[in-house]
Amino acid sequence: MWDFFQTVRHRHSVRRYQADVDIEPEALHGVLEMALAGPSAGDLQAYHLVVVRDETVRAKLTELCGEDFLTEAPVNMVVCADPERSAERFGERGRSLFAVQDATIAATFIQLAAVGEGLGSAWAGGFDEVAVRDTLDLPAGLQPVAILALGYPAEIPEPTPRRKLKDVVTYK
Ligand SMILES: Cc1cc2nc3c(=O)[nH]c(=O)nc-3n(C[C@H](O)[C@H](O)[C@H](O)COP(=O)(O)O)c2cc1C
Repeated sequence: MWDFFQTVRHRHSVRRYQADVDIEPEALHGVLEMALAGPSAGDLQAYHLVVVRDETVRAKLTELCGEDFLTEAPVNMVVCADPERSAERFGERGRSLFAVQDATIAATFIQLAAVGEGLGSAWAGGFDEVAVRDTLDLPAGLQPVAILALGYPAEIPEPTPRRKLKDVVTYK
C-alpha cells in the first residue's frame, strides 16, 4: 500500500481505459466513501454524486464534453454542487462559493482514492451545466461541476510539469 505522498504522486490524468474491465462494486464503494471523508463548509457536504454506468448516457456525456475518455471509462462520476444546501447556513457565500468548493474537494478525494484502488481517473470540465443536468434528469438545484472518468488504466501517463514552488508561494 502506498503512503499518502506516493499516492498523490501516482495520480495522473488517465485518458485511456481498459473498456472491457468493469469496476467492482466494492472498489467503487470505497472510492465514494473517501469523497465523504473530505472537509466541507460547516460539515454540510453540499454536493451530490451521480454514478453513471449506462453506456448510452456516457456517450451523451462524451458528446457534451468532447472527451472520448468518458465513454471508454466504465464509470463516469458527475460531481454536483448543491448550492441551496450550503446557502441555508451560509447565505450567498455558501450558495456562490462553499458548495462549489465542497464539490471540488469531493472530486479531488475521489481522484486520490481511485489511485488507492488501482484505478485511473480524468476530470472533464468543459460542458454546459444545463445540458448535463437535463441529460441526467437532475433537480434544477444541482450544479454539475466536474465529470470524472473512472476505470482501469490502459496507459501510463507521463507526469505533467508543475510550476516552481517559489513562483506560487510567498512567505511573510
Ligand atoms: C477544473 C478542471 C478542469 C479540467 N478539465 C479537463 C478537461 O475538460 N479535459 C481534460 O482532458 N482534462 C481536464 N482536466 C485535467 C487537467 O488537464 C489535468 O489535471 C492537468 O493537465 C494536470 O495533469 P495531471 O492530472 O495528469 O496531473 C481538468 C482539471 C481540472 C482541475
